[in-house]
Amino acid sequence: MTCPACDGTGWKALERDGVRRVERCDCWREQVTARLFADARIPRRYQHCDFANFRDYNESLKRAKARAIKLAEAFPAADRGLFLEGSPGVGKTHLAVAVLRHVVGATSARALFYDTRDLLRVIRSTYDPVVRTTEVEVLRPVMQADLLVLDDLGAEKTTEWVEETLNLIVNTRYSERRITVFTSNYPDIPDETEPESLLCRVGVRMRSRLHEMCEFLELRGADFRFQPANITDKELLELSEMNKDRGRRGVGAVRPAPARAQMREPHADLKWPGGRAGT
Ligand SMILES: Nc1ncnc2c1ncn2[C@@H]1O[C@H](COP(=O)(O)OP(=O)(O)OP(=O)(O)O)[C@@H](O)[C@H]1O
Ligand SMILES: [Mg+2]
Ligand SMILES: [Zn+2]
Repeated sequence: MTCPACDGTGWKALERDGVRRVERCDCWREQVTARLFADARIPRRYQHCDFANFRDYNESLKRAKARAIKLAEAFPAADRGLFLEGSPGVGKTHLAVAVLRHVVGATSARALFYDTRDLLRVIRSTYDPVVRTTEVEVLRPVMQADLLVLDDLGAEKTTEWVEETLNLIVNTRYSERRITVFTSNYPDIPDETEPESLLCRVGVRMRSRLHEMCEFLELRGADFRFQPANITDKELLELSEMNKDRGRRGVGAVRPAPARAQMREPHADLKWPGGRAGT
């Protein structure tokens, strides 16, 4: 249907103090925003996600939501992005999409959502192993987006190529001071002997960059995917208390006790002066 206010031109005439002017019609602004949302590639499953429907039933979720709102409201005047870390189903992607949607709605920024594995797959599809380059057309929007959500960082096992490619993207965005929101299942423990740590999944250089360009937030809670729709905040809180020490991928109850002890205290078998072994 043609807009009655502007007759489909996108401009409407105004008359103020006897002076005739034209200005952008609201329908034009709505169309621009709709296009920006479409271009952002938010997966259908997450298109409803916003801050209002994010349940912050414990302290870690309250803090994460508050920091995410702060970033979204400050954008583009923000100097660091976010790194949202936690076990499956706690709401990391939900919160990252909420930031993205708020920013697009409020500032008409060019934002982009990518699952890290999908992104690598797309880049790979244009990669030429002979000249060792990828078509720049694929990378440009990812590097230049005002806001990028890179979902599930570390999910793809690091090879030299993956590390190089992700470092290029992240370094370019860092140098241009563009904001990135990451999500990951891998805990940020500075232990290179722990294969399930962020460090091992993304490499030393990437981890160090991430710390410079992001605020790290850990989300703890129940796996929302397994909960009935009518679950209360109180029940969610109880569940998350019960699951506190379990369920972290790689670091938790699934790991046999001796390996865990060693992971925490890599020097436990050192001989100390005076014959004291370990601590
Ligand atoms: N705190 C929450 N409040 C409201 N909805 C939530 C919350 N946490 C998760 N959900 C919903 O549960 C589903 C799974 O959440 P989400 O995908 O954000 O989890 P995730 O932490 O990204 O998990 P994964 O590590 O598997 O990627 C989504 O539909 C999301 O909207
Ligand atoms: Mg996710
Ligand atoms: Zn109009």
